[in-house]
Amino acid sequence: MTQDELKTLVGQAALEYVVPGEIVGVGTGSTVNKFIDALAAMKDRIPGAVSSSNASTERLRALGIPVFDSNEVGEIAVYIDGADEIDGRGHMVKGGGAALTREKIVAAQSRRFVCIADESKRVEVLGAFPVPVEVIPMAVQRIVRQFAALGGSAAVRLRDGQPLITDNGQQILDVTGLRIKDPLRFESDVNQWPGVVTVGVFAHQKAAVCLLGTAAGVQTLTY
Ligand code: 5RP
Repeated sequence: MTQDELKTLVGQAALEYVVPGEIVGVGTGSTVNKFIDALAAMKDRIPGAVSSSNASTERLRALGIPVFDSNEVGEIAVYIDGADEIDGRGHMVKGGGAALTREKIVAAQSRRFVCIADESKRVEVLGAFPVPVEVIPMAVQRIVRQFAALGGSAAVRLRDGQPLITDNGQQILDVTGLRIKDPLRFESDVNQWPGVVTVGVFAHQKAAVCLLGTAAGVQTLTY
């Protein structure tokens, strides 16, 4: 099976976790796009979604799925999102699509995080994928130096030769050279650095379930 087919498989499998009658939290990315497309088949059974990005909001609305502001709703039953890496305890690196801050906000508002990913995302130790960090532009160079002191190398993410601007009007640093053995501590520490909006390590908002697309089918991992 191709990676795209594995994404379709887990996107469809995630429908089982959507609670009829309840608003669903929706992440961002190519795997989530498969989930959104599948969700259209049960749109009459849910009030709608809370979305983690302008891109997902657009896709949901185009399929006739109502999108609510996170402040309009209380606790969300389930949040479905992809990952760039997931370890054996459900800790993730996220933000390859630059939506990490809103993803973490919706995940924090949700009872259960269901991660959908193809098997290439499963790792032993987080950090081989460059860790995204959303930052306030005036703090960029100081944060680059702080990562250098940890052995990491941080670069501003570019789009068309210019710094990429997130849905929140901020920039993204991608950090290579890290091996994150204690994701809870790493997330807590980096989130304290002045100018960091969100670090793309999801340990405090880890997955409860991962639907992993493999050549043998969907593997359900629980944490
Ligand atoms: C976006 C994310 C995505 O969930 C992550 O990048 C995985 O994306 P894809 O499903 O396209 O591989 O965190 O900010």
